[in-house]
Amino acid sequence: MTETVRVVLGARSYDVRIGPGLIAGAAGHVAPLLARPRVAIVTDAHVAPLHLDALRAALRGGGIDSVALTLPPGEATKGWDALGRCTEWLLEQKVERRDVVLALGGGVIGDLAGFAAAILRRGVRFVQVPTTLLAQVDSSVGGKTGINAPQGKNLVGAFHQPSLVLADTGTLGTLPGRDFLAGYGEVVKYGLLGDTAFFEWLETHGPALAAGDADLRAEAVRRSVQMKADIVARDETEAGDRALLNLGHTFCHALEAATGYSDRLLHGEGVAVGCALAFELSARLGLCSQEEPSRVRAHLRAMGMKTDLADISGPLPDADGLLGLMAQDKKVLDGQIHYVLARGIGAAFVTADVPADTVRGVLADALAAR
Ligand code: NAD
Ligand code: GLY
Repeated sequence: MTETVRVVLGARSYDVRIGPGLIAGAAGHVAPLLARPRVAIVTDAHVAPLHLDALRAALRGGGIDSVALTLPPGEATKGWDALGRCTEWLLEQKVERRDVVLALGGGVIGDLAGFAAAILRRGVRFVQVPTTLLAQVDSSVGGKTGINAPQGKNLVGAFHQPSLVLADTGTLGTLPGRDFLAGYGEVVKYGLLGDTAFFEWLETHGPALAAGDADLRAEAVRRSVQMKADIVARDETEAGDRALLNLGHTFCHALEAATGYSDRLLHGEGVAVGCALAFELSARLGLCSQEEPSRVRAHLRAMGMKTDLADISGPLPDADGLLGLMAQDKKVLDGQIHYVLARGIGAAFVTADVPADTVRGVLADALAAR
């Protein structure tokens, strides 16, 4: 069964359709957007052998021609080289202003192809067909597109909303377990930031969901997307509430930088560890009881996820080194780090009023436990 979440943004509103079998039915979903029966698909070399033929066959079955570009998999693809290659390929394929680009893949492909669509001929429409849990619950929704720069992650980009998101939850069946759990880090984030009942639901159903229960997976995606859609509708360009979606991310970005954006730590793993640290910091500041970070950590552990700095292999900088990396986060305003903290599970808020010494203490203790 297909569930639909509407992202309400005036003339830029769009549907996020969620459920199994959406790729098989892609022609029917995409056709109403097309000025002519032809699309350009961007994907990566892991996803192409698994899902590209099925997508192209489904489109063909509905009379829609397609051309496809397969890029190397991995975070390194989200850079200037692949952006140039992708944009020039779209021009070579004579993609016109009224055409539609399809991004088939995880957050790397969605962010890159979305940004290419944003700058091609000053903006063509695009459809997200996310194939990772992370992309289905987070990166495909909300219109943040972009690439990494040598100076840092996601530093070059544009807000460019998709015209449609087709989150085919059946594609999660081919996702490696580690990538699935990394995406689950973003799912937990939604419960932690604003929905205690959802967090409780995850405590009950998380293990069965990770083991492959299709209905539970679709429900987790729907609830996550609904929360993101509500937040984006209130604050599209992150002038306020949208910053709540960065729960755990200031710690995460410092840890990703410290581990060289390598597979020592996937983004969603860093989000999970970062959420645990944000709750620990909240407890130290007296905002919530110590039971709250303990409960967060217990759930992450029960799911077999990276939870503590001790779960990250190899050397890490000391507490001051990590603080220095946090200060380079792009969410720093007027030299002040803005933290997403919590008064409890489901009750996050943003503040810059956090003594550096308390953060240093949390990090030093977490490092000492390694
Ligand atoms: P990813 O795109 O690198 O995908 C992870 C791995 O899974 C890759 O090797 C990919 O080839 C493979 N893969 C994808 N779908 C598969 C499938 N169905 N079966 C088998 N393998 C599959 O990474 P990700 O975790 O999806 O996304 C991470 C990126 O998303 C980061 O660059 C991050 O900055 C970005 N992000 C963006 C936003 C946003 O709002 N735009 C939000 C969160 C994260
Ligand atoms: N992933 C954070 C955002 O979309 O704002």
